[in-house]
Amino acid sequence: LKHFLTIDGLDKQLLTEILDTAESFVGISDQQIKKVPLLRGKTIVNLFFENSTRTRTTFELAAKRLSADVISISIATSSTSKGESLLDTIRNLEAMFVDMFVVRHSISGAAHFIAQHTAPHISVINAGDGQHAHPTQAMLDLFTIRQYKKDFSNLRVAIIGDILHSRVARSEIQALNAVGVTEVRVIAPKTLLPAHVETMGVTVSHNLTEGLKDIDVIIMLRLQKERMASALLPSESEYFKCFGLTEEKLKIAKPDAIVMHPGPINRGVEIDSKVADGPQSVILRQVSNGIAIRMAIMAMAMQKQGVGE
Ligand code: CP
Repeated sequence: LKHFLTIDGLDKQLLTEILDTAESFVGISDQQIKKVPLLRGKTIVNLFFENSTRTRTTFELAAKRLSADVISISIATSSTSKGESLLDTIRNLEAMFVDMFVVRHSISGAAHFIAQHTAPHISVINAGDGQHAHPTQAMLDLFTIRQYKKDFSNLRVAIIGDILHSRVARSEIQALNAVGVTEVRVIAPKTLLPAHVETMGVTVSHNLTEGLKDIDVIIMLRLQKERMASALLPSESEYFKCFGLTEEKLKIAKPDAIVMHPGPINRGVEIDSKVADGPQSVILRQVSNGIAIRMAIMAMAMQKQGVGE
């Protein structure tokens, strides 16, 4: 785990090790995160070329809880805006004795590219690249599911909405299949599904009312308007009527189903406020869990570099 770029190819044993490591950072009250000296003396740079609230902040908090020195660079005010290339930016940051880059970028493959070109002692963590992958989001979602459902093997999980443009959905499908859930069901209009989606290890429904039957875990997705041509944007009211999660539709799923959303949520587009803020919602718990899971991933990546030896 020197780099953490994708869930693809990772096995259940490694994913479980990440979840267990994250668990070890949670205090006696599950609302507390321990401060540990694991990464003291290490320097982590958050490089966010795309906007973020949850991922960037929880990576920064996670680094501080690991006792690392952490800097978050705002790309909008960096020399990238003066024409400096990605590689030159990386080379200059390397010269400041960096040990890890956490990278978010709108281009799929950007984190892989940096991992291939950065110095051999530096770890790269993918914090979301284009439509490709958001592996730490998938891990914090597994962590949250395990807190509420304990055992993955009997679960039916529905991922609902804009699967086509969602890096979260891709990583989520890989992670859920790796830990061996009974079924990953995607529920979306045909226009918001990738071609050959069945080959991704999912079942498919185009009808929310039918698709929610027997579901234990509901993962709602935002319409990724920034990745859609304006002519293809669905009408928000029409979309909500067909694919928006309301209290009435939630009753079709199992009575103890949990409702998840990676955020940011668009209230009244993919989810009704009464559901987002309701008793079955674990959306804010997902956000809290981002700290422990990102601590685990950063600590495990650095240990591969010899931290603590
Ligand atoms: N879930 C997620 O990636 O949120 P941000 O874009 O706010 O980081």
